Amino acid sequence: MDDSLPLESPSLSRRQFLNFLTGATVAATAGSALYATGKFFIPPAETTGGAILAKDILGNPIPATQITAEAPGTRALVAGLAGEPTYLIVKDDNTVDTVGIVDNCTHLGCTFPWNPTDQQFQCPCHGSLYAPDGSVVRGPAPLPLKIVHVAVVNNSILISPWTETDPRTREKPWWV
Ligand code: FES
Repeated sequence: MDDSLPLESPSLSRRQFLNFLTGATVAATAGSALYATGKFFIPPAETTGGAILAKDILGNPIPATQITAEAPGTRALVAGLAGEPTYLIVKDDNTVDTVGIVDNCTHLGCTFPWNPTDQQFQCPCHGSLYAPDGSVVRGPAPLPLKIVHVAVVNNSILISPWTETDPRTREKPWWV
């Protein structure tokens, strides 16, 4: 059976054919972009005692030395729990802070950059500002940023859920 595209078919005009080609190109481009984005957010398979390994954008585990080679004060973005983009913080002594900040605005879920000059996480969507510990400085964000535990074991970075009292609010975490 010949299932090739009938280019000479009177039902498929030149304009329709060009539209088809354009659509196929857009779909292929979008598919490639979605694959790359999705791969970054796919939860890592490996777990160690309930924790997951911090991974890079390609899904490879990130050695702790790669993070600690950055300047103190760096906020390094990695794939964390359930693939959530998570900021790891390089402390003044070039170790990784034991608290990570999830890059997910509590207003409507945008991701946001760290502004080292203002020492704030600044959400570009509606202007929410967060202190270095993820507390809200200015809304509309209603809640502090989600935090996670971070531990370095044998040069691997382990990320695990934060389920105890939120040190910023001294209350049960809103995400638990
Ligand atoms: S999603 Fe961040 S301020 Fe609205």
